[in-house]
Amino acid sequence: MGTLLRFENVTRRFGDFTAVDDVTLDVEKGETFSLLGPSGCGKTTLLRMAAGFDRPDSGRILLDGRDITHLPPDQRPVNTVFQSYALFPHLSVRDNIAFGPKLKGWSAAEVKRETERMLELAALDLKLRQRLLVELDAIHDEVGITFLYVTHDQGEAMSISDRIAVMNRGVIEQTGKPAEIYETPRSSFVAAFIGDTNFLDGRVVESGGRFSRCAIDGLGEVVIDNDRAVAAGEVVHVSLRPEKIVVMREKPEVGADANAVRGKVEDVIYFGSHTRYWVRCGEWRLCAEMQHRRFQLDEKAPAWGDEVWLSWHANDGFLLDRYRVEDEALLTLPDED
Ligand SMILES: Nc1ncnc2c1ncn2[C@@H]1O[C@H](COP(=O)(O)OP(=O)(O)OP(=O)(O)O)[C@@H](O)[C@H]1O
Ligand SMILES: [Mg+2]
Repeated sequence: MGTLLRFENVTRRFGDFTAVDDVTLDVEKGETFSLLGPSGCGKTTLLRMAAGFDRPDSGRILLDGRDITHLPPDQRPVNTVFQSYALFPHLSVRDNIAFGPKLKGWSAAEVKRETERMLELAALDLKLRQRLLVELDAIHDEVGITFLYVTHDQGEAMSISDRIAVMNRGVIEQTGKPAEIYETPRSSFVAAFIGDTNFLDGRVVESGGRFSRCAIDGLGEVVIDNDRAVAAGEVVHVSLRPEKIVVMREKPEVGADANAVRGKVEDVIYFGSHTRYWVRCGEWRLCAEMQHRRFQLDEKAPAWGDEVWLSWHANDGFLLDRYRVEDEALLTLPDED
């Protein structure tokens, strides 16, 4: 393996606006790597620099250990896969569609037939986009090309990537495998941008032992695994994914490593495979998701207006920074209120 493409302390400014801010990033040989982040976070700017269409103000770009920062595009063995429907901007739509089949070594006639067939679709719509993704994935598996993919669609990024870098405002907030990013978000922005989460505002009461204790405004104390250094008194967000919360009618027996809080069901939506509950706990409205792992026609399932208990393990809560108010517009927030 080893690194194929390396961005080293890369910064790109437009006037006094910093589009890419001191980004260091390694893309390994053979992997599918996605840059994921909201509109304007700097994804295309990074990609353009990798392809040689733009240059950093500072920092270096290395390809296989060689400094290519100032190498013109035509001398770089790099093709870019852009997030827009036109995958390769220098190719026509037809050539873009033909790219996959060609690379797979199909005959000219086969490529033409397949291209025509795909173009019969009304436009490069969602289905085609998904098809192209599947196609890219298949090519990737077959020929072991390294893919650097750019998207603001987390579902796309999660499903096709070996690793993802989550970007926000020109900065990489976290890099990791999709499951790492989802299960152990390192910032509130990442927790909210990838999937759904509940945020509780609180203040650290005690930290240092195996668990941190955190006082949640208007709710009481909760315990959280110590995976990040926090100091007593620190103002934090506790992030808690809906599917990690168990909803019960009876008060659960919880040990020192779990939490149980009382609440009242305000909304219930049944989805077949799972049910979503919105539960009022003090001043908080928490979303909990219950998977129906077994046959279930359960009259005892909690219903609208019921008094319930919510419980979750200390492992499943995260102490994170409180995200900036400006970031809120960029986030996919839990569907509530
Ligand atoms: N040539 C330029 N001149 C001035 N500002 C620019 C230029 N190119 C990009 N920017 C700005 O830099 C920021 C990052 O742009 P970029 O295109 O990299 O974002 P992006 O993450 O690709 O967004 P999107 O998801 O909308 O494509 C944006 O605020 C954009 O307006
Ligand atoms: Mg872009």
